[in-house]
Amino acid sequence: MSAEPTLFEVIHSTRAMRRLKPDPVPKVLLDKILAAGICAPSGRNRQPWAFLVLREPAPKRFFADRYLSAMQKRFENSTLNPDDNSARARALRSTLHLAEHMHEVPVILLVCGERNWPLGVPPGWRVGRAPPSYASTLPCAQNILLAARALGLGACLTTLHQTFEIELCHYLRIPDDFGVAVAIPLGFPQGKFGPVTRRFASELTYYDTWGRKAQRKTPTGSA
Ligand SMILES: Cc1cc2nc3c(=O)[nH]c(=O)nc-3n(C[C@H](O)[C@H](O)[C@H](O)COP(=O)(O)O)c2cc1C
Repeated sequence: MSAEPTLFEVIHSTRAMRRLKPDPVPKVLLDKILAAGICAPSGRNRQPWAFLVLREPAPKRFFADRYLSAMQKRFENSTLNPDDNSARARALRSTLHLAEHMHEVPVILLVCGERNWPLGVPPGWRVGRAPPSYASTLPCAQNILLAARALGLGACLTTLHQTFEIELCHYLRIPDDFGVAVAIPLGFPQGKFGPVTRRFASELTYYDTWGRKAQRKTPTGSA
């Protein structure tokens, strides 16, 4: 791959990078990544996002301790055979690695969203707190992942903070009308970027009616 990957090279190689070096992320790169994030579309262009960049040891440790506890609880009944080299086992190992080293990553980027979704529901009519504008904050988060990859930084979209979000918001003084949509650990990768493994779009695509696959072209070129 060339030094400056093309858009499609970036898209095809932006995968969850969970083994990150502790080396600092230069502010100029972080600024570029955030500038890409805010280019995302949002409902009525309200841009209902805000970013909280955790770089100091104390807030990172607060986040990391709770993230690790939640991850250990989630996988407490999972057994991992050291000889198992399946995709599932490798994913589980990297997931646990990130949880165990979260406090060491140079940046934990919290993409926060205004609690105003679904649009059009008057605040007084809602039951409970509205979610943090997922439909707008997730495109923003994806732009961030792509920009990080383009700049040679590893990142991973995580959501396990939802199990301790109230405590997290209180600790970080996030106002009640905002929530944390995703948490993105960010740093230079220990390993190499590689292609993502996904099902083929053609397996999942129908034309005009659900279930109708694309017609194969005949040798003469007609459908
Ligand atoms: C909505 C969502 C939530 C996720 N939550 C977590 C998480 O809490 N922790 C984690 O390590 N990865 C998390 N991931 C990353 C996925 O596990 C990962 O993207 C997926 O397994 C595909 O892996 P790949 O991108 O390396 O191919 C999440 C991804 C998405 C889209």
